[in-house]
Amino acid sequence: MASQLLAKKPLSTIMAEASDTGEHCLKRSLGPINLVTIGIGGIIGAGIFVLTGTAAAQFAGPAIVLSFVVAGAGCVFAGLCYAEFASMIPIAGSAYTYGYATLGEIVAWIIGWALVLEYAFGAATVAVGWSGYVTGFLRFFGITLPFNPTPKGHLSLFGATIPVQVDIFAMAAIVIITIILVVGVRESANFNSAVVLVKVSVVIIFIGLAVAFAFGHWPHMMANWHPFIPKNLGHYGQFGWSGIMRGAGVVFFAYIGFDAVSTAAQEARNPQKDMPFGILGSLIICTILYIIVAGLLTGVKSYTALNTPAPVADGAAAIGVSWGVFLVDIGAIAGLTSVMLVMLLGQSRVLYTMAHDGLLPPWVCKIHRSFRTPYITSIVVGVFVAFLAAFLPIMFLAKLVSLGTLLAFTIVCIGVWVLRVRHPKVPRPFRTPWVPVVPILGIVVSLALMLSLDLPAWIGFGSWLVFGLIIYFAYSRKHSSVRRELAAQNRHAPAVHQS
Ligand code: ALA
Repeated sequence: MASQLLAKKPLSTIMAEASDTGEHCLKRSLGPINLVTIGIGGIIGAGIFVLTGTAAAQFAGPAIVLSFVVAGAGCVFAGLCYAEFASMIPIAGSAYTYGYATLGEIVAWIIGWALVLEYAFGAATVAVGWSGYVTGFLRFFGITLPFNPTPKGHLSLFGATIPVQVDIFAMAAIVIITIILVVGVRESANFNSAVVLVKVSVVIIFIGLAVAFAFGHWPHMMANWHPFIPKNLGHYGQFGWSGIMRGAGVVFFAYIGFDAVSTAAQEARNPQKDMPFGILGSLIICTILYIIVAGLLTGVKSYTALNTPAPVADGAAAIGVSWGVFLVDIGAIAGLTSVMLVMLLGQSRVLYTMAHDGLLPPWVCKIHRSFRTPYITSIVVGVFVAFLAAFLPIMFLAKLVSLGTLLAFTIVCIGVWVLRVRHPKVPRPFRTPWVPVVPILGIVVSLALMLSLDLPAWIGFGSWLVFGLIIYFAYSRKHSSVRRELAAQNRHAPAVHQS
């Protein structure tokens, strides 16, 4: 029984699936630039535009720059491990498939289930932020809507009355993005590239303005940067070095998304070469941009005044740019749009692979004949996420997203190490350097960041995993194609032996 729960999917089977082509398969149409923009599309969003200021004001001060370095380093360790796997077994299941190949079915299921937290709940979290920015943007132009985009009401459930708020804009955003995803991966990637261009331009314009300001106001910048690490106020996480760590836990959210590049592996034209380029390229570009923005922002405006809903816009206003709010609104709306797109793309691809392995019903991996996308899954995920976005509290969702992602990072780092020991000779187009040091560092940083999150988030995370395990034992275990194949091999083994 235990050995069946830990049944591993043979590498040879996975490699054969990865090289499968034809009408029933995903379409290989993405080049290296598409993959980098998918990564940047998934990364730059609410994190840099909102959390930088909040975390500087509450936890780290100007040393938020170091929080970005710590969180970025953790992601680079995990990113190096993702790059090895994604180039070696380019399958849309990402961390789920890597877990299946190395640690066994039940671990793979848990990771697949945790990835739902990352991608589906992540898209819902971002959709709510998106709705807030769009409403603010319309107000900027003096446009008031003829209806309330977030009507409040009450829901009666088992005799209890629950207050609910329906976010119509958030739902509409998810519906539109779902339609783009159904139409085609190439169309989705092109739309994403255009949006990424806008948001990266906004970040670069902010950097340019802040650098010009710094040259003219050097003493002002120096005064705001001093002390660089404010003294700890007596409690863990309130400035000082522990504040830098807590800040890292918070701004980790800003990095989430680079891993989604690996879910596009089955749609890449040349995954062996382009996967590491897409994953690491996008991660390195964003890490550099984040560190520069954080450093300049805390220079132009004192960290004590950055605990606001739009700190980067406030930074632009402090520079004296009246259209700063407008500019940052455009960047944030573009940023959040592409984050939703990349997360919904990743979600449908992971579920597609799980269904392919029999762990979810067959309709989940049905491919549209002409669009060549898993259209039914994309639509079902879109509807589910639209409802999540409409009804659930955003802060709680954001922490669950980080926990789910960090669990996946941990398993991917363990997996790379395990596979190096078990299958040292399998060709690896990209090799993670210094194994096992890099995977161990990835595991340590991921676990440390997980532990920095609070108890309610852990209770929510635990409940989600228990719910997932109930589905596994009720359905997936009985329909697993890997188990079926292993059972068939065992039945044939004595006969082969006798002949
Ligand atoms: N990294 C993404 C963001 O910051 C999730 O919005």
